[in-house]
Amino acid sequence: MSSFSRSVSFKQRAASINSPGFCRKTLVPRLFCALIVIGSLVSFFFVIGCGYLYVLPNLTHTFHDHADRFSNFSGSEDTCDVYNGNWVLDDSYPLYNALECPFVEQGFNCLDNGRTDNDYIKWRWKPKNCAIPKVNVQLVLEILRNKRVVFVGDSMSRTQWESLICLLMNGLEDKNSVYEVNGNKITKQIRFLGVRFSSFNFTIEFYRSVFLVQHYWAPKHVPRRVRSTLKLDKLDDISREWIDSDVLIFNSGQWWIPGKIFGMGCYFQVGNSLKLGMPIASAFRRALSTWSSWVESMINPKRTQVFFRTFEPSHWRNLTLRQCNVTKFPLLEAGGKDSSSFSDAVFEVVNNMTVPVTVLHITPMSAFRSDAHVGTWSDRPSLSDCSHWCLPGVPDVWNEIVISYLLGSNEPASTSASTRFKNV
Ligand SMILES: *[C@@H]1O[C@H](CO)[C@@H](O)[C@H](O)[C@H]1NC(C)=O
Ligand SMILES: *[C@@H]1O[C@H](CO)[C@@H](O)[C@H](O)[C@H]1NC(C)=O
Ligand SMILES: *[C@@H]1O[C@H](CO)[C@@H](O)[C@H](O)[C@H]1NC(C)=O
Ligand SMILES: *[C@@H]1O[C@H](CO)[C@@H](O)[C@H](O)[C@H]1NC(C)=O
Ligand SMILES: *[C@@H]1O[C@H](CO)[C@@H](O)[C@H](O)[C@H]1NC(C)=O
Repeated sequence: MSSFSRSVSFKQRAASINSPGFCRKTLVPRLFCALIVIGSLVSFFFVIGCGYLYVLPNLTHTFHDHADRFSNFSGSEDTCDVYNGNWVLDDSYPLYNALECPFVEQGFNCLDNGRTDNDYIKWRWKPKNCAIPKVNVQLVLEILRNKRVVFVGDSMSRTQWESLICLLMNGLEDKNSVYEVNGNKITKQIRFLGVRFSSFNFTIEFYRSVFLVQHYWAPKHVPRRVRSTLKLDKLDDISREWIDSDVLIFNSGQWWIPGKIFGMGCYFQVGNSLKLGMPIASAFRRALSTWSSWVESMINPKRTQVFFRTFEPSHWRNLTLRQCNVTKFPLLEAGGKDSSSFSDAVFEVVNNMTVPVTVLHITPMSAFRSDAHVGTWSDRPSLSDCSHWCLPGVPDVWNEIVISYLLGSNEPASTSASTRFKNV
């Protein structure tokens, strides 16, 4: 069992076979599973060896985090909270054309899937006392040269990964110089996707790890309803792939709901003991604290700039019935969706850490955007979806903020890091 899960490789991740649901849900005979294990082990050592060739660290150029990032030149008390603001119409948006970017997955390309109103792609986020600088694609491409950007999380992370690739591809003449390293197509279950910008020698990678911690088969001699467990004290096996990165962006939250945990026969485990009665909120905090210990012990803050994106609000009318109406315009009131216990937990854990972690607090800004979900303009038009976001759209703005942090931290020491959010 454990060798089965440990045997992930770049190729195997594509097949998502290390998820405990695979053999049970699809009823693949055990013999077939055993064959996959052996195949995985062989390809694991081969592919990991090759994989590291292109992700070798470049230690010479590090990102530095500044505590004073929101103060301006004068160092006044008036600081800018980039997450407090409103959406304004801006005709210079969207930042790219989804039809020209092969990394927008079909399910998120709302315009191509038949959405006809297009105001939703024209909104810019405007913080109260400052502005998010316009993305200078050429500058960002240069800053990322020889680097590794790694996204870790669920499908919301994958959307942001797609968005960043498309934002940056927009500045390239030769679109063929950008490709997925294994030639894989984007799918919902895929465990690893790595897109290489070959003319700039950097990769933007996505690792699917919806819980961040290990998801395993149930141990022996447990109640029958327990089919798998989340080991809250062990970070996901593939975490070793996240270490030597320059920018590391996490999220988690969407899967921490009863239907996706208990409903699937999944229960919590800490050490050797099963925690059958543990509430999801406590389990999420426990998993985050495992994550924070991992960051503290494995991440070199001189090399890696770590981000954690907070919860992405959804806009269901009734989630059980999967009913929702995508609106034409953003909401004027966030209606309570601007806060989330998942986001609060992230802040609590990060505030206790010594390795600097930037919390991308996108919960409040995204709460207004009931107009920006894929709705029925997805690859499953029969079901409405008010969780996922259209591309171009809201995830582009999350990336504009990430980019402004990256640029700010690369400015010469004489100009304050705060210039990344210009006073207006
Ligand atoms: C700093 O911010 C304050 C208040 O927002 C503003 O009045 C001042 O002009 C800003 N200074 C600079 C140098 O941008
Ligand atoms: C590409 O980047 C890696 C670090 O990620 C570095 O080791 C290597 O030398 C770079 N290759 C070139 C041709 O610059
Ligand atoms: C959603 O629909 C179900 C089934 O009709 C109902 O039991 C539940 O109360 C509804 N939830 C909300 C929030 O309206
Ligand atoms: C909202 O969506 C439901 C189905 O999810 C539909 O029956 C209803 O007519 C829609 N309401 C509006 C105002 O579009
Ligand atoms: C923060 O650290 C203190 C001291 O180590 C600990 O008592 C507390 O539980 C921690 N809080 C969180 C949210 O991890």
